[in-house]
Amino acid sequence: MKGHCCCGNSSGNSISGSKNNCKKDFIHISDYSSEELEKIISLAEEMKRNPHQYRESLKGKSLGMIFSKNSTRTRISFEVGIFQLGGMGLYFGANDLQLSRGETVHDTGKVLARYLDGIMIRTFAHNDVTELAKYASIPVINGLTDYNHPCQAMADIMTIKEKFGTLKGLKLAYVGDGNNVVRSLAHACIKFGLDVSIVTPKNYAMEEGFIVSAQQLANSHHKTKVLVTDDIKKGVDGANVVYTDTFTSMGQEAERERRLRDLKDYQVNDQVMSYANRNAIFMHCLPCHRGEEVTASVIDGPQSAIFDEAENRLHAQKAIMYMLMK
Ligand code: CP
Ligand code: NVA
Repeated sequence: MKGHCCCGNSSGNSISGSKNNCKKDFIHISDYSSEELEKIISLAEEMKRNPHQYRESLKGKSLGMIFSKNSTRTRISFEVGIFQLGGMGLYFGANDLQLSRGETVHDTGKVLARYLDGIMIRTFAHNDVTELAKYASIPVINGLTDYNHPCQAMADIMTIKEKFGTLKGLKLAYVGDGNNVVRSLAHACIKFGLDVSIVTPKNYAMEEGFIVSAQQLANSHHKTKVLVTDDIKKGVDGANVVYTDTFTSMGQEAERERRLRDLKDYQVNDQVMSYANRNAIFMHCLPCHRGEEVTASVIDGPQSAIFDEAENRLHAQKAIMYMLMK
């Protein structure tokens, strides 16, 4: 809605670049304080326990959902989520909007803000999301870019808390491709007090700038430890959570054969799980590729938490929408 103010104060986040209103966006985990993130998780837990109490909380509100990439979980959990809160979701696929014929992000953001109360966007270039947030005077939620995947990280944290009853002091080991999922996951671990190790082959490591900023963030948050290594045994040693993701993310299909070759030794299998804590859980944002980044014995085995993790996308995102759009 034009000129509306959804947060009721003047602390609009700076990442969106919005200077003209006090709306908030959900684009990077690092834009939020630990306290704010903890509140979102508490609300998600409450919504999971008592969904009916929130069924009219976004009554009459509409969420536009722009998908330039495929999705099962993100699309369905946002669409069902806004419905369960009393609002409606409008889905726009890759070729639906005039964006795909060259209309600018600037004009799209300004126009959508005249009709909608929030926008969720999944796309390739991260800059398109920050740009959209800059020009749309309504909350923008990042549903995955080539750079990160913050909603996934919130559902992951919620799942870990459910499984262990606590977060602080746990250790999460991510093994595989240094990608969008681990960027948000690492930041979330740091913000919630988990130690994190990122285990990738050298050629698939996170960029230096990210590692430095993650280490700085860790020093100022709970003094958590961040370990970056190509040594699987060292990285996974004593972990409570072992996490992996596809070796070939959306948009990288042309590199698939090379990636499978280069990353094959970083598969999460029974041997890798044996380095972790005996009660460790296995997580994956899905979709997965059995026999590539993870064996069927692990992902379909007793330690796997993947379907609770997928379900928690719904609850975590309902809390995010409530926080931004109420
Ligand atoms: N984990 C995740 O984002 O799944 P989708 O690609 O199915 O949305
Ligand atoms: N890294 C994966 C995550 C999918 C949810 C991708 O970007 O395709």
